Amino acid sequence: MTIAPESPQAGTRPLLRLEPKPSHARGKRSPVTCRLKCADQCAHPVPNRTDHETFREVASRALTRRRMLGGLAAAAAVVVGGAQVAGAPGAAAAGGPVAAGRKGLAFGAIAPQPAATDALVVPDGYEWSPIIRWGDPILPGGRAFDPARQSPQQQALQFGYNCDYLDILPADPKELAKPLHARSRGTRGLLVSNHEYTNPAIMFDESYDAATRRAIERAAHGMSVVEVTRRRTGTPWEYSRLSRSNRRVHLGTEFVVDGPAAGSDLMRTVADPTGTRVLGTLNNCAGGTTPWGTVVSGEENFHGYFRATGTDPRDARYGLRDAATSYGWELDEPRFDARNAGYENESHRFGWVVELDPYDPSAPPVKHTAMGRLKHEGANVILSEDGHAVAYMGDDERFDYVYKFVSRDTFRRGGSARARAHNKQLLSAGDLYVARFEGDSPAAEIDGSGAVPSDGAFDGTGRWVPLVEDGESRVPGMSVAEVLVFTRLAADAVGATKMDRPEDVEPHPLTGRVYVACTNNTDRGKAGKEGPTEPNPRGANRDGHVVEIVEDRGDQLSETFRWNLLLVAGDPATNDGTYFAGFPAEKVSPISCPDNLAFDADGNLWISTDGQPSSIQRCDGLFKVPLTGRERGHVQQFLAVPREAETCGPVVDSRDGMVYVNVQHPGEDGSFADQHSFFPDYLAAGEPVPAGAWRGPRPATVQVYRAGAGEQPGKGNGHGHGWDGPGPFPWPRGGKGWGPGGRSRGRWAR
Ligand code: FEO
Ligand code: CA
Ligand code: CA
Repeated sequence: MTIAPESPQAGTRPLLRLEPKPSHARGKRSPVTCRLKCADQCAHPVPNRTDHETFREVASRALTRRRMLGGLAAAAAVVVGGAQVAGAPGAAAAGGPVAAGRKGLAFGAIAPQPAATDALVVPDGYEWSPIIRWGDPILPGGRAFDPARQSPQQQALQFGYNCDYLDILPADPKELAKPLHARSRGTRGLLVSNHEYTNPAIMFDESYDAATRRAIERAAHGMSVVEVTRRRTGTPWEYSRLSRSNRRVHLGTEFVVDGPAAGSDLMRTVADPTGTRVLGTLNNCAGGTTPWGTVVSGEENFHGYFRATGTDPRDARYGLRDAATSYGWELDEPRFDARNAGYENESHRFGWVVELDPYDPSAPPVKHTAMGRLKHEGANVILSEDGHAVAYMGDDERFDYVYKFVSRDTFRRGGSARARAHNKQLLSAGDLYVARFEGDSPAAEIDGSGAVPSDGAFDGTGRWVPLVEDGESRVPGMSVAEVLVFTRLAADAVGATKMDRPEDVEPHPLTGRVYVACTNNTDRGKAGKEGPTEPNPRGANRDGHVVEIVEDRGDQLSETFRWNLLLVAGDPATNDGTYFAGFPAEKVSPISCPDNLAFDADGNLWISTDGQPSSIQRCDGLFKVPLTGRERGHVQQFLAVPREAETCGPVVDSRDGMVYVNVQHPGEDGSFADQHSFFPDYLAAGEPVPAGAWRGPRPATVQVYRAGAGEQPGKGNGHGHGWDGPGPFPWPRGGKGWGPGGRSRGRWAR
């Protein structure tokens, strides 16, 4: 990316105002998010037009076969917490669920918040504050955020927009190789965040010319690495404004391409005849932290940034179209328009899993072609018993698939520089699989309502079908490079199971079980579309579900597995078609549109949501779900994010008694002149605005901690929060923590 000279107010062209499309309110989220985040993919035909065997047909065949075999499969079932669950727990990972930490993370579930609530709400006994917000400066030369004085250069020195994936890595990467319950984040860490997309209607007033605005948006995409410090564990962090660890990755950052498709004809452009160097990353959604201390990040809805020729059916399978994009970057850089000679392949260079080493600010980030090209939600890595890196991945689109990657080489322990360099190559070569699920209940019992079949569970068996294995293509008629660049088509060819928008796919670090958040699919069962199947059992699925996969023999390398649905989400007060692993529905917090997943050191699953304002008219939130014993399936809401925001990137540190989330797109349906959220600064109208603060919505990383742990939060390194003034940051008075947190509502509440 060429960063244009600073000229934020060089013109007066009006901002593009994204008006809702009347026909497009059927999905889970606001029209603004649909347009910007996913290029309105729900308003266009489903790209997966394959008509391979429906699951109903597969299930019927499976049932017939099982009857013939005398029901042997049923004998393998075990009962966990009163819910019938297929297979025994895996044991690939070290350690097991442990007792709560010294103080633990006990809480009483909060009440679901009406969708118009512009507050971040946490349980009694907890407080919250932002660690870092959109626009906070993190690199030398970065000024305190001022929405009237943004420039591409300043944005490239600041924390980006719409944070999604989040982790706070310990100062020593060797800590990450320890079992979860033995890890400590200590008092110095590296905050790593993705910046998925931008929303110009609420970011810029009308003084910005369109080209400058677009250049700022390119600089606001990507990723950030920011050093954070605190006085002791369990207390809130502040970010270090000038740390040499700090880093921004955006559309102008050079990436190395590696793996079997690197350098292939499909990856070359006139600007990069080698097919091994790409400028930038975009639409980075979720991700994962590897055992060797890097972060992998998913390039998701890349199709929304490219104008295609409109003549290549392979492009169509990814939703690429010959139409002006809402971002308009094709007006600035020829590579965003495939009709320009020499740039036909540029869109092939996006849609990958990228790996960033936060501990080495000089290391170029890498795009791993071995992991396939799809609309990657993210990737999550676990080590098999013999040390292979196994990554689980979802392709977030209606009727798309779940994937698994197994590294060719194995993890080297010890944490030496040499071992780490070896481990950073693990995602460069390996086998790629796609999931095929089979149900064990009669097709007639999967009626689309969510009613649990007579065997007591949505469950069955599955197979990881190879696409690339031992360096060879397993898809007839496709080369290895074709399989990896057009992975969706390869998976179509082997009859993968169409899922309801697989988002995070995360292996449990203590049990090796794998959890798949299927966020929703309102098209399931529509005319011409696949109907309900046992792994996706509801028609017009607005609320989503969570699949639990148990690899056979507890072996992460297994090519077969058993599965069951842990949750069939929704508000049980208004929806009969919900299921909570057998836990009484009247005792759970309503939950809808599961998106990101996390685990705490006590073995609980945590789920963040994206879409509740549309589906159940509640603010999105973060929910705890125990996975074992009598509490299995007991969904309890921990926090709610403000109006029109999505909860992203949860990190739950039950040892420290702290929780972290990224609050993405607060107030997304507003305009610059009519903002819908004032998170997180929550300044009252007419109130003096401290340097670096703003009376408007700012996507931000939030930390939640025990009440009192954050006293004197301004006394730290003095660099946090973009504060340029003398002395500590002028924290608002009148509330605990900063802003309207849970019980802390005072004059900051809206
Ligand atoms: Fe960016 Fe699939 O959510
Ligand atoms: Ca069943
Ligand atoms: Ca997501």
